[in-house]
Amino acid sequence: MRRAIYPGSFDPVTNGHLDIIERGCKLFDEIIIAILVNPEKQPFFSIDERREMLAEVLNGIEQGGCNVRIDDFQGLLVHYAVAQQAHAIVRGIRAISDYEYELQMALMNRRLEPTIETVFMMPAETYSYVSSRLVKEVFQLGGELEGLVPPIVENRMKEKIKR
Ligand code: PNS
Repeated sequence: MRRAIYPGSFDPVTNGHLDIIERGCKLFDEIIIAILVNPEKQPFFSIDERREMLAEVLNGIEQGGCNVRIDDFQGLLVHYAVAQQAHAIVRGIRAISDYEYELQMALMNRRLEPTIETVFMMPAETYSYVSSRLVKEVFQLGGELEGLVPPIVENRMKEKIKR
């Protein structure tokens, strides 16, 4: 039973995240999507909203025999990973610019907890420039999000702005 943690902010989940989850499902028996609770950041969506959207969009992806769960965590990722008896942390790398930050995190996590491996995965080229940060910026400035996030995410963003 190989279990991986896929950590992140997921504010909001993008098609790039879903692509990584689909690919991760080919490698692991279970993936826990772990949303970081970060009291220092003002998020667009609450943790509950992010969890709800993830649960909805996961129905639309190819999971094979992999069990995909959603959770949230606070504190050190490696402490959470050990508590979940995970073997690996999955992170998506889009471009070489991601690599430096990801390498630092992976090596720090390895120092803190040598039993957990970090696995870097590349999303499809179509998503190589997609990030939650840019999605929010484009949305807030009135740009089109089609193809970048699942339609329900775009709808939830529109609803939120209306309120
Ligand atoms: O989606 P993000 O914001 O790129 O995800 C970053 C995340 C959640 C993976 C990272 O911030 C993290 O692991 N935070 C938990 C705190 C921690 O363990 N920090 C030390 C990392 S070396």
